[in-house]
Amino acid sequence: MGRLVVVSNRTGDLGTKTQTGGLAVGIVDALKSSGGMWMGWNGEVVDKPETSNAQLTTHGNVTSLTVSLSEQEHENYYLGFANKVLWPSFHYRLDLMDYRTEFAKHYAAVNRRFADTIHSHLRNDDLIWVHDYHLIPFASELRRRGSAHKIGFFLHIPFPSVDVFSAVPRHGWLRECLLQYDLIGFQTKNDVQNFCRYLKEHSKAKFLSPNLIRWQGRTISIGDFPIGVDAGQFSAMAHERDEGIELERMRRSLLKRFQVISADRLDYSKGLPQRMKAFRKFLDSYPEYLGRAEYLQIASPSREDVTAYADIRAELEQLTGAVNGKYADFNWAPIQYINRSIEREKLALLFRCSLIGLITPLRDGMNLVAKEYIAAQDAEDPGILILSKFAGAAEQLNDALIVNPYDINEVAQAIRRAATMSMEERRARHRNLLSQISEYDVQRWQNEYLAALRAVQTVAPQSMRS
Ligand code: G6P
Repeated sequence: MGRLVVVSNRTGDLGTKTQTGGLAVGIVDALKSSGGMWMGWNGEVVDKPETSNAQLTTHGNVTSLTVSLSEQEHENYYLGFANKVLWPSFHYRLDLMDYRTEFAKHYAAVNRRFADTIHSHLRNDDLIWVHDYHLIPFASELRRRGSAHKIGFFLHIPFPSVDVFSAVPRHGWLRECLLQYDLIGFQTKNDVQNFCRYLKEHSKAKFLSPNLIRWQGRTISIGDFPIGVDAGQFSAMAHERDEGIELERMRRSLLKRFQVISADRLDYSKGLPQRMKAFRKFLDSYPEYLGRAEYLQIASPSREDVTAYADIRAELEQLTGAVNGKYADFNWAPIQYINRSIEREKLALLFRCSLIGLITPLRDGMNLVAKEYIAAQDAEDPGILILSKFAGAAEQLNDALIVNPYDINEVAQAIRRAATMSMEERRARHRNLLSQISEYDVQRWQNEYLAALRAVQTVAPQSMRS
């Protein structure tokens, strides 16, 4: 079996024992079992990066190959095309899209540089797995260099509907680039449907079966591979001891307070203002919860150089202030807002002692926090997940309370329903949710994806044929 070569915008840390996030856990695990290489940006922005500046480091049977970005590349490729064009539009926020020609130019150029950097390190039987929207043109760049490898792509974010995708400048070029992969994987069936519909309307690709197309002499597979979490590992973390949090739990049980929790990157796709308004509506409608219900929002800073992110941050600060100003008492504040990342161990414990996990993105590829919240619960006294119908996870997690995050009143009612739910119903829902996330875990995600990639039938590209 050949090596696995993973390419993603950022590389994970191969040196540490505990990986953070499902993606890193899944990839590190897959890399360690077959041996391989992980290539990506090292997170540094330097004056003049060159292909020859790539750094190779080895951890056991896994090599990491990293490059830095120049100021200009960071501005135009990462902040620009990836995060001002693709991210907002794929999350249905065409209003936030800011397209400029130089963004697309540098996006293509960075993909070319990534391909140049890795090309001489590749072996003929390597299996190449490319991740996320930053690297759509990567396969076409490798093909141009004569690569006949099996190359798979996995999109971690949603694939939007035909009308939205076809409004993205250069969508035709993005489509041609995607069709250079052998396997195109999405999070949900809905994403697969959107992509296939788009191909039917905007390309001449021939559908051999619902998930198999023929295009320019090549066969391309398309499939949904919902990413999961390592439920056992997260649950173990949630059951460790932490004096501070234990005390907090006791205080809560004495005072009969209950906590609603959310943890997100501070991103406009997460629906944070709508969520705060829903909590305010809950307090307005059910004043008996004043002094008892608390909403803890952890929002880790993200992409702060993009204006839309600074705007959402300001809006949240203003809303938190307004709600707390209206309702807080000397010994209680309804909203606790933490604008920094907190360690995963602590997060797991906080999830366990929160009665409600309120995960209501306006659009999300999957949302692993929803799955981690389930993994962290005590089976005997489990919390309730309130989940947006627009999170990819909603396709699997039918036993959550599914809500429309735009409907503030509906979300407020769901909080009320969760707050008064019988223990029997809580346990039954949790049992089903836990079996879902344990069955479809991160291991299964990578196994199924890689098995499908290994199984694709390839033909050598034109330039390699004799
Ligand atoms: C999302 C994307 C990932 C990205 C992560 C953090 O989950 O799907 O590709 O790495 O956000 O964003 P950042 O811009 O900090 O890498």
